[in-house]
Amino acid sequence: MHDTKLDGIYGTPPAELAASPPTAIQFSPLIPGSHKLEGQEAGSLGAMVMLAPPGTVERRHETALALRALAPGGLLTILAPKDKGGSRLAKELKGFGCTVTETSRRHHRICVCERPASPTGIDEALAEGRPRLDQSLGLWTQPGVFSWNRVDPGSALLEQNLPPLSGRGADLGCGIGFLSRTILSSAKVQHLVLIDIDRRAIEMAERNIVDPRAEVRWADVRGGIPLSGLDFVVMNPPFHDGGAEDQSLGQAFIRRAAEALRPGGICWLVANRHLPYEAVLKPLFRRVTPKIEAAGYKIYEAQK
Ligand SMILES: C[S@@+](CC[C@H](N)C(=O)[O-])C[C@H]1O[C@@H](n2cnc3c(N)ncnc32)[C@H](O)[C@@H]1O
Repeated sequence: MHDTKLDGIYGTPPAELAASPPTAIQFSPLIPGSHKLEGQEAGSLGAMVMLAPPGTVERRHETALALRALAPGGLLTILAPKDKGGSRLAKELKGFGCTVTETSRRHHRICVCERPASPTGIDEALAEGRPRLDQSLGLWTQPGVFSWNRVDPGSALLEQNLPPLSGRGADLGCGIGFLSRTILSSAKVQHLVLIDIDRRAIEMAERNIVDPRAEVRWADVRGGIPLSGLDFVVMNPPFHDGGAEDQSLGQAFIRRAAEALRPGGICWLVANRHLPYEAVLKPLFRRVTPKIEAAGYKIYEAQK
C-alpha cells in the first residue's frame, strides 16, 4: 500500500536527521506554492517527514492534519529542536494514539510512528488550531501566524502614526492584514498589494480585507516582488527566520521596497530600536527621517 501512495514533507527537516524522497510533496504553509495539508484527502499519503513548528497549538494542529492525511500504517517522522517543541513531541503523539520510537540527535528529538488505525484526539486538535474571528482584534486569525492573538506593539505604534496615504502601494509582510486595514481607511489609496510568506496569514488577510482595491499575494519578498512605480510601501519587517534572529530578512525587505517605489515614493517602516536598519535605508533612499521612537520601537519615513 505504502508504495502506491504519495509521500509528504513539511518544512525543511535537516536531511542528515530525517531523509525524505525527492518526490515528496511539500506541505509547509511557509513555502509559497506548496500543497495544502488541510485539503489533502484523508488516508492519501504513504509517509510524511515533518519539521514540526514551535507553537504548541499550531504543532498539534499540523500533526493532526498529517495523521489525517496519512493512510493507516503510513509512517510519520516528526522532529523538532529540543527547545522548540521537540521534547514534547513523543507525549503529543502518544495522545493521538501513536506508538512512538524516539531518538535524540543534534539537539533535535526525532519521533517515528505509524499512523494508527483509529487515531484519537484529531478533531479536538483541529478545532483548537483552526482559524477564528478574534473579537478584540476584529480580525480573522489562526494560531501559528505572526502575533496571532495580540497586536504586535511595533505594528500598533506604526498604525497609530501612519498618515492617510494615497495612490498605489504595498504592505510587505502583511500578516493577517492589521496594517492594511488602516492603510485602506484612506479613500485616496487606489490599490494595495498585500504580500506574506505564510499561506495561513494570507488566507486570513483575504477574509479580513474585503476591498476591491486590495490584492493579496502568497510570496517570499526575498525572491523579488514584481511591482514598480509604487507611491508607498508600509512594513513591519520580520527579523526572525525559523526562530533565530536574521537581520538580512529585514534588509531584503528594505531593498525590495526601494526597488518597487517610484522616485519620491515613501516607505513607512517600524522596527525594533536595536536593529541597524538606518544604515541599509540611507544608501537606497534620498531622505531617511526617524519619526517616532517609543516602547523600544522606531518608525522611519524614507523617501526614494
Ligand atoms: C513582524 S510581522 C508583521 C505582520 C503584519 N504586517 C502586522 O503588522 O501585524 C512580519 C510578517 O512578515 C512575514 N514574512 C516573514 N518572512 C517573509 C518573507 N520572506 N516574505 C514575505 N513575508 C514574510 C511573516 O509571516 C509576518 O507575517
